Amino acid sequence: MTFCGMILAAGKGTRMKSELPKVLHPIAGRPLLFYPVHALLEAGAQEVVVVVGHGKDRIEQMLATYFPDRVVTAFQPEQRGTGHAVACGLAKVTHTQGELALAYGDMPLLSASTFQGLLSLTQTSPALLHMLTTWADSATGYGRIIRDASASVLEVKEERDCTEVETAIREVNPGVYMVDLPFIRKAVGNLESNNAQRELLLTDVVKVAAKQGGVATQTWDFAELQGVNDRRDLAACEMRMLRRIAENHALRGVTIRDLDSVYIDHEVHIEADATLQNAVVLRGACQIKRGAFIDVGCVLEDVQVGENAYLKPYTVATQSRIGQEAQLGPFAHVRPRSTIGRRAQIGNFVELKSTQVGEGSKANHLSYLGDGDIGDHVNIGAGTIFCNYDGTHKHRTVLEEGVFVGSDSQFVAPIKVGKNAYVGTATTVTVDVPEGALAIGRVRQVNKPGYAAELRKRLRRTKADDR
Ligand code: UD1
Ligand code: CA
Repeated sequence: MTFCGMILAAGKGTRMKSELPKVLHPIAGRPLLFYPVHALLEAGAQEVVVVVGHGKDRIEQMLATYFPDRVVTAFQPEQRGTGHAVACGLAKVTHTQGELALAYGDMPLLSASTFQGLLSLTQTSPALLHMLTTWADSATGYGRIIRDASASVLEVKEERDCTEVETAIREVNPGVYMVDLPFIRKAVGNLESNNAQRELLLTDVVKVAAKQGGVATQTWDFAELQGVNDRRDLAACEMRMLRRIAENHALRGVTIRDLDSVYIDHEVHIEADATLQNAVVLRGACQIKRGAFIDVGCVLEDVQVGENAYLKPYTVATQSRIGQEAQLGPFAHVRPRSTIGRRAQIGNFVELKSTQVGEGSKANHLSYLGDGDIGDHVNIGAGTIFCNYDGTHKHRTVLEEGVFVGSDSQFVAPIKVGKNAYVGTATTVTVDVPEGALAIGRVRQVNKPGYAAELRKRLRRTKADDR
């Protein structure tokens, strides 16, 4: 069945108390508004119009980023109510016949199946207006569904216009409708603002439809219909969304130790047989390959993790690639533009930045390796530092294949160490090391036999003098 879609997103969202327009607040890494638009498109809407007003430019930019050429915007210059917003939107809807799916932009939990539920209702009922209703534990802020003695819908009453008895009604209007296009065009043209808000209310269209031939409703789970008015709602919706995302991954074969403690952004891709331990955070466009094991507390953003890689607890990585069977952490820090080769090991308190690590290379303890090009099978001892910054410029350190670096060495970049060279412990490398060479640059040690006791005696004497 063909239908068009419209999302209302022109309001300011005053209750968010924010500089950012409400519908741009993120949930699981995407702006709120992304979700209902995505749901409409996925449900098969032929054309989607988003009504914008507050924050118009930023919202249009967002839509162009995620839905290039698939969404049209309509401008509502003044927020005169949801009915007025629909009137503005209709000017951009090219279809003249058929159904229009309508929803508010502040409903991030809507999915394609929500709209499909309504669509199937339109197939069995000839009503002019089909809408979802839901039972809310706390109905505050929602329009109430007013029914007659035979349970037919009479109207939707906004909370502010409700009597005490009506306020007690728990069946509410989530704001998801499917309406006959010719009918809605006519009905919004006749709206009046004789209500508490002095606005043109879309909900008044329900009353008109009820008079003219009926309204059909379908009850739906509140879990998909919760709207965001303030930041408390935002947090509640995000929790539901995160749980949904985690469950979807679990159903597709990902082992997730605790579905409520992981945080996985919308865009993340995880293959079957990967494992996520508790409190793992995967942001942005992470891609986790099969068999990868992400241990407790790892925080990854835009990171690709190769097959069977093992990220030990509290590894933090950003915009980087981690090769197959590589091992990181605990407490490794991989900063942007780094690549860790197959089977490489990056251990505790090792920090990388814009560094390539070759296959099988190891840096297992306490090192800063910034702006490095590390070949295959390089071994880097504890406490190694790439001195990459001279206060003005960043320079690279190149360690070719097979290089061995003793502990506590520094590389003053730009610097290059040739294939299979050996850098002795505690060397400050300031001159390039040729292939196969041994570099040692440390002060020669002197041993004074028996001098320890002598030294202690002297030290004690000076301490006594101090008193
Ligand atoms: C609306 C419904 C209410 C329903 C509730 C569900 C109306 C009159 N009321 O109330 O019955 O229970 O949603 O969450 O429809 N908007 C515009 N232009 C405007 C006004 C609003 O585009 O002039 C947009 C807003 O950006 C928002 C949506 O419409 O995305 C809903 O507006 P909001 O002010 O949040 O309506 P509610 O008071 O929540
Ligand atoms: Ca709302």
